Order: sequence, then structure tokens, then C-alpha cells
Amino acid sequence: MTEKMQNQPMQPSQPWMASVLTLFPDMFPGPLAQSLAGKALAAGLWSLHVTDIRPFGVGVHNKVDDPPFGGGPGMVMRPDVMAAALASASDGLPKDMAKIYLSPRGKRLDQPLVKELAAGPGVLLVCGRYEGLDQRVIDAAGLTEISIGDYVLSGGEMAAQVLIDAVVRLLDGVMGNPMAHQQDSFENGLLEHPLYTHPRDWGGNVVPEILLSGDHGRIAKWRQEAAMALTQKRRPDLWEEWLKSEAKEDQSKGKKLTK
Ligand SMILES: C[S@@+](CC[C@H](N)C(=O)[O-])C[C@H]1O[C@@H](n2cnc3c(N)ncnc32)[C@H](O)[C@@H]1O
Repeated sequence: MTEKMQNQPMQPSQPWMASVLTLFPDMFPGPLAQSLAGKALAAGLWSLHVTDIRPFGVGVHNKVDDPPFGGGPGMVMRPDVMAAALASASDGLPKDMAKIYLSPRGKRLDQPLVKELAAGPGVLLVCGRYEGLDQRVIDAAGLTEISIGDYVLSGGEMAAQVLIDAVVRLLDGVMGNPMAHQQDSFENGLLEHPLYTHPRDWGGNVVPEILLSGDHGRIAKWRQEAAMALTQKRRPDLWEEWLKSEAKEDQSKGKKLTK
């Protein structure tokens, strides 16, 4: 699957695409070849292109990094090398494709951002290694920095896989039941309610009676209240946002009614 983008102009009908720049091309598709994402990849519902940065390195050893100016530990990925790799990987990509550098300094990846990326033609993802990229190539290429959380990984590859997986499951045709993700955590601003399946009685732990009632209205109400309680307890930040958005919705409903 480590094919490189050829000089082909993109067609609007082409599936969502992830174009990844990495020093470790063998890490792809990796876990993305399994399960939902893997089946969708095999079915052509999205495509993956991997560019190996190493051949763009300088000198006989294809050097891609050098020590930081100003001193300090580690190595920095050279801007000339990265710019050449980026130019090659960008060839033929749509102009509106998101260009992302996976970086712990970036905007935190969340579900609204995942949805935004799923609505576009695809993403170009730069995986850093060592201490990261020279700032000048981040600026010159207009890369948006995106983080998958407040911790430091040794490279951007797994972060790229997280981002791709989160997007791919939202693409049309990927999930068997297209409504499935609408009940997921974050979809309506809340965490998902608790889930139960067989057996009804598991070592004396019984499923809440209401879920066996067949009364869909009461079940939906129970689930909504459980989701609210869970969110309030575990994620006060999300809870505050949800309350604000509910208040806004009530306000706009009120305005419509008074028209
Ligand atoms: C060892 S890290 C460099 C960390 C960098 N010196 C810093 O302190 O911000 C190497 C690479 O891993 C990737 N990476 C590490 N943590 C990440 C995170 N939380 N989200 C996304 N990418 C991350 C980035 O591509 C980064 O260039």
C-alpha cells in the first residue's frame, strides 16, 4: 500500500484521501488495514498514499535532520528535505486539501474537527520524528498543527492513524448502519449513555428494567438523562458547552414561536 502519488489531477468524484509523509512508510496502513477502516480501504471508500521522506534527504546518506541552531538536545527535520517531500506528495492534490503537521503543540483533535476533515476532499499529513520540523517549512507550506492529546509520542505516525481512523468511520458507506455514529459520544455534545447486552442477569448484575420495556420513548428519555448525568460528572467542560448550546437552541425556538 506504500504507493506514491502520481502526477494525476484529482477528480471531484474521487474518494476521501489521506496522503501521509513519513520516515517509516512500513507503518502504513498498519492498523488501518483492519476492521472498518481496512474494509473501507479495500472497497475503495477512501484511499491512502504514503510518501517516504528518506529519498528526499541530502548527501550520500540521505540525511533528513540536523542539530538545532541555538543548541539543545535532539535533531530537527530539515526544511529543504521536508519541502522537497511535500512538493512531491502535494503534486496533483486538490487545492482545498487540509495540510496538517501532527504535533503536540497543535489544536487538539476533537469530533467537530474530525467531521470538518471528513467533509473535505482529504488530508495531507506530515509525521514528525526527533524534535520535530524546522519552523520555516511549517510556515512556508502553511501546515496546520494538530495534536491528538497532551502527551508526547515518539513520532507522528500513530497520531496520523488516529486521525485517519476517526475520519474514515464517518465517511459514507463505511459503517453498516449509517445512523450508528449519531449516538456516539460527542455527536450531540454529550458522552454516550451506558450500554447493556445479553445476558440480562450477569452474576446478579441485572440490566436496568426500562431497557427491557420495549417503550422506545421512555428508553430514549432514560438514555438522554444517563448521558447528561455521565457528562456532568466526568466532563464538566463538555457539560458547560452543552448547557450553553441548549440555551441557544431554546432561545432560537422561542424567537421562531413569537414570529
Ligand atoms: C518526540 S515528538 C517531538 C515533540 C516536540 N519536541 C515538542 O516538544 O513539541 C516527535 C514527533 O511526534 C509527533 N507527535 C508527538 N506527540 C504528538 C501528539 N500529541 N499529537 C500529534 N503528534 C505528536 C510529532 O509529529 C512530533 O514532531
